[in-house]
Amino acid sequence: MRVLTTGGAGYIGSHTVLALVEAGHEPVILDNFANSSPEAVRRVSELAGREIELIEADLLDAPAVDRIVADGNFDAVIHFAGLKAVGESAAQPLRYYRSNILSTLNLLDAMQKHGVRNVVFSSSATVYGEAGTVQYTEELPLNAMNPYGRTKMHIEQILDDLAASEPGWHIGKLRYFNPVGAHPSGRIGEDPRGIPNNLMPFVSQVAVGRREHLNVFGDDYPTPDGTGVRDYIHVVDLAGGHVAALEALGDVRGSRAWNLGSGQGSSVLEVVRAFERAAGRPIPYVVAPRRDGDLPEFFADPTLARLELHWKTERGLDDMARDAWNWQSKNPFGYGTGEEDPEA
Ligand code: NAD
Ligand code: UFG
Repeated sequence: MRVLTTGGAGYIGSHTVLALVEAGHEPVILDNFANSSPEAVRRVSELAGREIELIEADLLDAPAVDRIVADGNFDAVIHFAGLKAVGESAAQPLRYYRSNILSTLNLLDAMQKHGVRNVVFSSSATVYGEAGTVQYTEELPLNAMNPYGRTKMHIEQILDDLAASEPGWHIGKLRYFNPVGAHPSGRIGEDPRGIPNNLMPFVSQVAVGRREHLNVFGDDYPTPDGTGVRDYIHVVDLAGGHVAALEALGDVRGSRAWNLGSGQGSSVLEVVRAFERAAGRPIPYVVAPRRDGDLPEFFADPTLARLELHWKTERGLDDMARDAWNWQSKNPFGYGTGEEDPEA
Protein backbone atom coordinates (compact mmCIF):
# COMPACT_ATOMS: atom_id res chain seq x y z
CA MET A 1 0.00 0.00 0.00
CA ARG A 2 1.08 3.54 -0.68
CA VAL A 3 0.64 5.21 2.69
CA LEU A 4 0.67 8.90 3.53
CA THR A 5 2.23 9.11 7.01
CA THR A 6 1.58 12.50 8.56
CA GLY A 7 4.12 13.25 11.29
CA GLY A 8 6.30 10.50 9.83
CA ALA A 9 9.51 12.31 10.80
CA GLY A 10 8.57 12.15 14.50
CA TYR A 11 9.42 9.58 17.12
CA ILE A 12 6.74 6.95 16.50
CA GLY A 13 6.28 7.91 12.85
CA SER A 14 9.93 7.36 11.93
CA HIS A 15 9.95 3.85 13.43
CA THR A 16 6.65 3.05 11.72
CA VAL A 17 7.86 4.28 8.33
CA LEU A 18 10.75 1.85 8.60
CA ALA A 19 8.40 -0.99 9.62
CA LEU A 20 6.15 -0.16 6.65
CA VAL A 21 9.06 -0.43 4.22
CA GLU A 22 10.15 -3.70 5.83
CA ALA A 23 6.59 -5.03 5.37
CA GLY A 24 6.65 -4.15 1.67
CA HIS A 25 4.59 -0.95 1.79
CA GLU A 26 5.43 2.43 0.33
CA PRO A 27 5.27 5.18 2.96
CA VAL A 28 5.34 8.86 2.05
CA ILE A 29 6.16 11.23 4.90
CA LEU A 30 4.30 14.51 5.37
CA ASP A 31 5.78 16.66 8.14
CA ASN A 32 6.36 20.31 8.94
CA PHE A 33 9.24 19.51 11.34
CA ALA A 34 7.48 21.36 14.15
CA ASN A 35 8.87 18.75 16.55
CA SER A 36 11.29 16.72 14.45
CA SER A 37 14.25 16.92 12.16
CA PRO A 38 14.93 16.12 8.48
CA GLU A 39 17.90 14.15 9.81
CA ALA A 40 15.44 11.55 11.11
CA VAL A 41 14.09 11.06 7.59
CA ARG A 42 17.62 10.77 6.21
CA ARG A 43 18.43 8.07 8.74
CA VAL A 44 15.22 6.15 8.12
CA SER A 45 16.08 6.16 4.41
CA GLU A 46 19.53 4.85 5.26
CA LEU A 47 18.06 2.04 7.43
CA ALA A 48 15.41 1.25 4.81
CA GLY A 49 18.01 1.09 2.06
CA ARG A 50 16.06 3.48 -0.12
CA GLU A 51 15.04 7.11 -0.29
CA ILE A 52 11.77 7.75 1.57
CA GLU A 53 9.55 10.25 -0.19
CA LEU A 54 9.17 13.38 1.92
CA ILE A 55 6.67 16.21 1.60
CA GLU A 56 7.36 19.20 3.83
CA ALA A 57 3.95 20.71 4.58
CA ASP A 58 1.75 21.90 7.42
CA LEU A 59 -1.57 20.10 7.88
CA LEU A 60 -3.08 23.44 8.86
CA ASP A 61 -2.58 24.56 5.27
CA ALA A 62 -5.82 23.17 3.84
CA PRO A 63 -5.15 23.92 0.14
CA ALA A 64 -1.72 22.26 0.36
CA VAL A 65 -3.21 19.19 2.06
CA ASP A 66 -5.89 18.98 -0.60
CA ARG A 67 -3.29 19.06 -3.37
CA ILE A 68 -1.09 16.47 -1.67
CA VAL A 69 -3.96 14.01 -1.25
CA ALA A 70 -5.33 14.74 -4.74
CA ASP A 71 -1.98 14.02 -6.39
CA GLY A 72 -0.62 11.32 -4.09
CA ASN A 73 -2.44 8.20 -5.26
CA PHE A 74 -2.57 6.98 -1.66
CA ASP A 75 -4.26 3.79 -0.53
CA ALA A 76 -4.24 4.78 3.12
CA VAL A 77 -3.18 7.39 5.64
CA ILE A 78 -1.51 6.94 9.02
CA HIS A 79 -2.11 10.12 10.95
CA PHE A 80 0.56 10.76 13.60
CA ALA A 81 0.97 14.51 13.23
CA GLY A 82 -0.01 16.59 16.20
CA LEU A 83 1.15 18.27 19.38
CA LYS A 84 1.48 16.02 22.40
CA ALA A 85 2.66 17.78 25.56
CA VAL A 86 0.01 17.52 28.27
CA GLY A 87 1.25 20.46 30.37
CA GLU A 88 1.64 22.72 27.36
CA SER A 89 -1.89 21.82 26.26
CA ALA A 90 -3.27 23.17 29.53
CA ALA A 91 -1.36 26.43 29.06
CA GLN A 92 -2.23 26.79 25.35
CA PRO A 93 -5.55 25.00 24.79
CA LEU A 94 -6.51 26.91 21.64
CA ARG A 95 -3.21 26.09 19.99
CA TYR A 96 -3.74 22.43 20.80
CA TYR A 97 -7.35 22.33 19.61
CA ARG A 98 -6.36 24.14 16.43
CA SER A 99 -3.25 22.10 15.72
CA ASN A 100 -4.71 18.71 16.45
CA ILE A 101 -8.35 19.05 15.45
CA LEU A 102 -8.23 21.52 12.57
CA SER A 103 -5.34 19.69 10.94
CA THR A 104 -7.27 16.43 11.20
CA LEU A 105 -10.34 18.06 9.63
CA ASN A 106 -8.22 19.33 6.74
CA LEU A 107 -6.83 15.85 6.22
CA LEU A 108 -10.23 14.13 6.40
CA ASP A 109 -11.79 16.69 4.05
CA ALA A 110 -9.12 15.98 1.46
CA MET A 111 -9.44 12.23 1.94
CA GLN A 112 -13.20 12.35 1.54
CA LYS A 113 -12.96 14.53 -1.54
CA HIS A 114 -10.34 12.37 -3.25
CA GLY A 115 -11.67 8.96 -2.25
CA VAL A 116 -9.07 7.80 0.28
CA ARG A 117 -11.09 5.94 2.91
CA ASN A 118 -8.49 4.04 4.94
CA VAL A 119 -7.00 5.74 7.96
CA VAL A 120 -5.11 4.74 11.09
CA PHE A 121 -5.13 7.39 13.79
CA SER A 122 -2.69 7.90 16.70
CA SER A 123 -4.88 8.05 19.75
CA SER A 124 -3.76 7.57 23.32
CA ALA A 125 -4.63 5.72 26.50
CA THR A 126 -5.09 9.18 27.93
CA VAL A 127 -8.60 9.21 26.37
CA TYR A 128 -9.77 6.89 29.17
CA GLY A 129 -8.86 9.32 31.95
CA GLU A 130 -9.97 8.31 35.40
CA ALA A 131 -11.73 5.08 34.52
CA GLY A 132 -12.34 3.60 37.97
CA THR A 133 -10.25 0.59 37.03
CA VAL A 134 -6.53 0.10 36.30
CA GLN A 135 -6.71 -2.25 33.31
CA TYR A 136 -8.29 -0.49 30.37
CA THR A 137 -10.49 -2.24 27.81
CA GLU A 138 -11.67 -0.50 24.67
CA GLU A 139 -15.34 -0.36 25.77
CA LEU A 140 -14.63 1.96 28.71
CA PRO A 141 -16.24 5.37 28.30
CA LEU A 142 -13.88 8.12 27.16
CA ASN A 143 -13.09 10.62 29.86
CA ALA A 144 -9.95 12.58 28.95
CA MET A 145 -8.76 14.89 31.71
CA ASN A 146 -6.66 17.55 29.93
CA PRO A 147 -6.87 19.52 26.66
CA TYR A 148 -4.35 17.27 24.87
CA GLY A 149 -6.36 14.19 25.82
CA ARG A 150 -9.57 15.91 24.82
CA THR A 151 -8.20 16.65 21.35
CA LYS A 152 -7.62 12.88 20.97
CA MET A 153 -11.07 12.09 22.34
CA HIS A 154 -12.79 14.60 20.05
CA ILE A 155 -10.88 13.36 17.01
CA GLU A 156 -11.97 9.81 17.83
CA GLN A 157 -15.58 11.05 17.95
CA ILE A 158 -15.16 12.92 14.66
CA LEU A 159 -13.83 9.74 13.07
CA ASP A 160 -16.82 7.77 14.42
CA ASP A 161 -19.26 10.37 13.09
CA LEU A 162 -17.58 10.36 9.70
CA ALA A 163 -17.65 6.56 9.53
CA ALA A 164 -21.37 6.61 10.41
CA SER A 165 -22.19 9.28 7.85
CA GLU A 166 -21.39 7.24 4.74
CA PRO A 167 -20.32 3.70 3.94
CA GLY A 168 -16.85 2.80 2.79
CA TRP A 169 -14.65 4.16 5.58
CA HIS A 170 -12.13 1.88 7.28
CA ILE A 171 -10.82 3.64 10.37
CA GLY A 172 -8.45 2.29 13.03
CA LYS A 173 -8.00 4.24 16.25
CA LEU A 174 -4.87 3.11 18.04
CA ARG A 175 -4.75 3.89 21.75
CA TYR A 176 -1.08 3.81 22.63
CA PHE A 177 0.02 3.24 26.18
CA ASN A 178 3.55 4.51 26.99
CA PRO A 179 5.87 4.29 23.96
CA VAL A 180 9.58 4.16 24.85
CA GLY A 181 12.86 2.78 23.50
CA ALA A 182 14.42 3.12 20.10
CA HIS A 183 15.39 1.18 17.00
CA PRO A 184 18.13 -1.33 17.99
CA SER A 185 20.51 0.22 15.45
CA GLY A 186 20.73 3.34 17.62
CA ARG A 187 20.22 5.45 14.48
CA ILE A 188 16.68 6.65 15.24
CA GLY A 189 15.00 7.35 18.56
CA GLU A 190 13.16 9.88 20.67
CA ASP A 191 14.60 13.39 20.57
CA PRO A 192 12.50 15.66 22.78
CA ARG A 193 13.04 19.39 22.56
CA GLY A 194 13.82 21.10 25.85
CA ILE A 195 13.29 19.37 29.16
CA PRO A 196 11.67 15.96 28.59
CA ASN A 197 8.14 15.59 29.96
CA ASN A 198 8.22 11.82 29.97
CA LEU A 199 10.00 9.41 32.24
CA MET A 200 12.23 7.33 29.95
CA PRO A 201 13.75 10.24 27.98
CA PHE A 202 14.40 12.05 31.24
CA VAL A 203 16.11 9.00 32.73
CA SER A 204 18.16 8.64 29.52
CA GLN A 205 19.36 12.22 29.80
CA VAL A 206 20.33 11.71 33.44
CA ALA A 207 22.27 8.58 32.44
CA VAL A 208 24.15 10.42 29.71
CA GLY A 209 24.98 13.32 32.02
CA ARG A 210 22.71 16.00 30.55
CA ARG A 211 20.66 16.20 33.79
CA GLU A 212 21.77 15.80 37.38
CA HIS A 213 18.97 13.67 38.74
CA LEU A 214 15.48 12.38 38.09
CA ASN A 215 12.53 13.73 40.04
CA VAL A 216 10.30 10.83 40.97
CA PHE A 217 6.84 12.36 41.05
CA GLY A 218 5.40 10.82 44.19
CA ASP A 219 6.27 7.69 46.14
CA ASP A 220 3.07 7.45 48.17
CA TYR A 221 0.67 6.12 45.54
CA PRO A 222 -1.30 2.96 46.33
CA THR A 223 1.05 0.85 44.18
CA PRO A 224 3.52 -1.87 45.25
CA ASP A 225 6.49 0.50 45.67
CA GLY A 226 4.48 3.73 45.93
CA THR A 227 5.53 5.12 42.52
CA GLY A 228 3.35 5.46 39.42
CA VAL A 229 2.69 2.38 37.32
CA ARG A 230 2.39 2.48 33.52
CA ASP A 231 2.32 0.09 30.57
CA TYR A 232 5.54 0.77 28.65
CA ILE A 233 5.66 -0.41 25.05
CA HIS A 234 8.77 -0.66 22.90
CA VAL A 235 8.44 1.70 19.93
CA VAL A 236 9.44 -1.08 17.52
CA ASP A 237 6.54 -3.21 18.81
CA LEU A 238 4.30 -0.16 18.47
CA ALA A 239 5.46 0.37 14.89
CA GLY A 240 4.56 -3.25 14.13
CA GLY A 241 1.10 -2.57 15.58
CA HIS A 242 0.56 0.09 12.93
CA VAL A 243 1.45 -2.29 10.13
CA ALA A 244 -0.91 -4.87 11.62
CA ALA A 245 -3.71 -2.31 11.94
CA LEU A 246 -3.21 -1.05 8.39
CA GLU A 247 -3.39 -4.59 7.06
CA ALA A 248 -6.53 -5.33 9.12
CA LEU A 249 -8.41 -2.21 7.99
CA GLY A 250 -10.12 -4.09 5.19
CA ASP A 251 -12.09 -6.05 7.82
CA VAL A 252 -13.22 -2.90 9.63
CA ARG A 253 -16.63 -1.55 8.69
CA GLY A 254 -16.59 2.04 9.92
CA SER A 255 -14.28 2.65 12.85
CA ARG A 256 -12.64 0.49 15.49
CA ALA A 257 -10.40 1.21 18.49
CA TRP A 258 -7.52 -1.00 19.61
CA ASN A 259 -5.31 -0.67 22.67
CA LEU A 260 -1.63 -1.03 21.89
CA GLY A 261 0.12 -2.00 25.10
CA SER A 262 1.70 -5.01 26.75
CA GLY A 263 -0.89 -5.60 29.47
CA GLN A 264 1.86 -5.27 32.11
CA GLY A 265 2.49 -2.36 34.44
CA SER A 266 5.94 -1.20 35.57
CA SER A 267 6.65 1.34 38.29
CA VAL A 268 8.89 4.40 38.01
CA LEU A 269 11.50 2.69 40.19
CA GLU A 270 11.37 -0.47 38.04
CA VAL A 271 12.10 1.69 35.00
CA VAL A 272 15.01 3.32 36.85
CA ARG A 273 16.43 -0.10 37.83
CA ALA A 274 16.11 -1.45 34.29
CA PHE A 275 17.92 1.60 32.97
CA GLU A 276 20.68 1.24 35.53
CA ARG A 277 21.20 -2.34 34.38
CA ALA A 278 21.26 -1.28 30.72
CA ALA A 279 23.61 1.67 31.19
CA GLY A 280 25.75 0.07 33.88
CA ARG A 281 25.65 3.21 35.99
CA PRO A 282 23.48 4.60 38.77
CA ILE A 283 20.57 6.95 38.00
CA PRO A 284 20.43 9.48 40.85
CA TYR A 285 16.89 10.46 41.81
CA VAL A 286 15.03 12.44 44.41
CA VAL A 287 11.44 11.97 45.43
CA ALA A 288 9.42 15.04 44.45
CA PRO A 289 5.73 15.92 44.93
CA ARG A 290 3.13 14.21 42.76
CA ARG A 291 2.65 15.74 39.31
CA ASP A 292 -0.79 17.32 38.79
CA GLY A 293 -3.17 15.12 36.86
CA ASP A 294 -1.12 11.89 37.14
CA LEU A 295 -3.02 8.69 37.81
CA PRO A 296 -1.47 6.13 40.20
CA GLU A 297 -1.66 3.18 37.84
CA PHE A 298 -3.01 2.02 34.50
CA PHE A 299 -2.18 -0.53 31.86
CA ALA A 300 -3.75 -2.02 28.78
CA ASP A 301 -5.96 -4.97 28.22
CA PRO A 302 -4.38 -5.85 24.86
CA THR A 303 -6.71 -8.80 24.09
CA LEU A 304 -8.60 -7.13 21.25
CA ALA A 305 -5.42 -6.27 19.31
CA ARG A 306 -4.21 -9.83 19.79
CA LEU A 307 -7.45 -11.30 18.45
CA GLU A 308 -8.17 -8.84 15.65
CA LEU A 309 -4.73 -7.59 14.61
CA HIS A 310 -2.85 -10.80 15.46
CA TRP A 311 -0.36 -8.55 17.18
CA LYS A 312 1.23 -8.48 20.61
CA THR A 313 4.29 -6.93 22.19
CA GLU A 314 7.49 -8.95 22.08
CA ARG A 315 9.96 -6.72 23.87
CA GLY A 316 10.22 -6.24 27.63
CA LEU A 317 11.41 -3.46 29.91
CA ASP A 318 15.07 -4.52 29.69
CA ASP A 319 14.92 -4.37 25.86
CA MET A 320 13.33 -0.92 26.06
CA ALA A 321 16.03 0.35 28.44
CA ARG A 322 18.83 -1.23 26.40
CA ASP A 323 17.65 0.30 23.13
CA ALA A 324 16.89 3.69 24.70
CA TRP A 325 20.39 3.73 26.20
CA ASN A 326 22.00 2.60 22.93
CA TRP A 327 20.29 5.50 21.13
CA GLN A 328 21.02 8.06 23.85
CA SER A 329 24.67 7.08 24.31
CA LYS A 330 25.34 7.15 20.57
CA ASN A 331 23.40 10.41 20.11
CA PRO A 332 23.72 12.34 23.38
CA PHE A 333 21.96 15.34 21.79
CA GLY A 334 19.55 13.37 19.64
CA TYR A 335 19.65 14.47 16.01
CA GLY A 336 21.40 17.71 16.95
CA THR A 337 24.80 18.65 18.27
CA GLY A 338 23.78 20.26 21.55
CA GLU A 339 24.56 23.70 20.15
CA GLU A 340 21.03 24.42 18.89
CA ASP A 341 19.21 24.92 22.17
CA PRO A 342 21.44 25.76 25.12
CA GLU A 343 18.39 25.69 27.42
CA ALA A 344 17.76 22.04 26.59
P1 NAD B 1 6.39 13.59 17.64
O1 NAD B 1 6.20 14.99 18.10
O2 NAD B 1 7.75 13.01 17.68
O3 NAD B 1 5.80 13.41 16.17
C1 NAD B 1 4.74 14.20 15.68
C2 NAD B 1 5.17 14.72 14.32
O4 NAD B 1 4.11 15.51 13.77
C3 NAD B 1 6.41 15.62 14.38
O5 NAD B 1 7.36 15.17 13.43
C4 NAD B 1 5.89 17.00 14.05
O6 NAD B 1 6.85 17.79 13.37
C5 NAD B 1 4.69 16.66 13.16
N1 NAD B 1 3.66 17.70 13.13
C6 NAD B 1 3.07 18.31 14.19
N2 NAD B 1 2.16 19.21 13.76
C7 NAD B 1 2.15 19.14 12.40
C8 NAD B 1 1.43 19.82 11.38
N3 NAD B 1 0.52 20.75 11.68
N4 NAD B 1 1.67 19.50 10.10
C9 NAD B 1 2.60 18.55 9.77
N5 NAD B 1 3.32 17.90 10.70
C10 NAD B 1 3.10 18.18 11.99
O7 NAD B 1 5.38 12.69 18.53
P2 NAD B 1 5.27 11.11 18.64
O8 NAD B 1 5.67 10.75 20.02
O9 NAD B 1 5.90 10.44 17.50
O10 NAD B 1 3.70 10.96 18.57
C11 NAD B 1 3.01 10.70 17.37
C12 NAD B 1 1.52 10.69 17.64
O11 NAD B 1 1.21 9.74 18.65
C13 NAD B 1 0.98 12.03 18.15
O12 NAD B 1 -0.29 12.24 17.58
C14 NAD B 1 0.85 11.80 19.64
O13 NAD B 1 -0.14 12.62 20.19
C15 NAD B 1 0.48 10.34 19.69
N6 NAD B 1 0.82 9.69 20.97
C16 NAD B 1 2.11 9.76 21.42
C17 NAD B 1 2.44 9.19 22.65
C18 NAD B 1 3.84 9.29 23.20
O14 NAD B 1 4.01 9.08 24.41
N7 NAD B 1 4.86 9.54 22.39
C19 NAD B 1 1.45 8.51 23.41
C20 NAD B 1 0.16 8.44 22.89
C21 NAD B 1 -0.15 9.03 21.67
N1 UFG C 1 7.50 10.49 36.04
C1 UFG C 1 8.42 10.82 37.03
N2 UFG C 1 9.38 11.75 36.73
C2 UFG C 1 9.46 12.35 35.49
C3 UFG C 1 8.53 11.99 34.49
C4 UFG C 1 7.55 11.06 34.81
O1 UFG C 1 8.37 10.30 38.14
O2 UFG C 1 10.35 13.19 35.29
C5 UFG C 1 6.48 9.45 36.34
C6 UFG C 1 5.04 9.94 36.21
O3 UFG C 1 4.59 10.50 37.40
C7 UFG C 1 4.32 8.64 35.82
C8 UFG C 1 5.37 7.86 35.04
O4 UFG C 1 6.63 8.43 35.40
O5 UFG C 1 4.02 7.90 36.98
C9 UFG C 1 5.20 7.96 33.54
O6 UFG C 1 5.13 9.35 33.18
P1 UFG C 1 5.20 9.82 31.64
O7 UFG C 1 5.15 11.31 31.65
O8 UFG C 1 6.34 9.17 30.98
O9 UFG C 1 3.91 9.18 31.01
P2 UFG C 1 2.35 9.45 31.35
O10 UFG C 1 1.74 8.12 31.59
O11 UFG C 1 2.18 10.47 32.38
O12 UFG C 1 1.85 10.10 29.99
C10 UFG C 1 2.10 9.46 28.75
C11 UFG C 1 2.15 10.50 27.63
C12 UFG C 1 0.80 11.06 27.37
C13 UFG C 1 -0.17 9.97 27.16
C14 UFG C 1 -0.17 9.06 28.36
C15 UFG C 1 -1.15 7.94 28.24
O13 UFG C 1 3.01 11.55 27.97
O14 UFG C 1 0.86 11.82 26.19
O15 UFG C 1 1.12 8.53 28.52
O16 UFG C 1 -0.84 7.14 27.15
F1 UFG C 1 -1.39 10.51 26.99
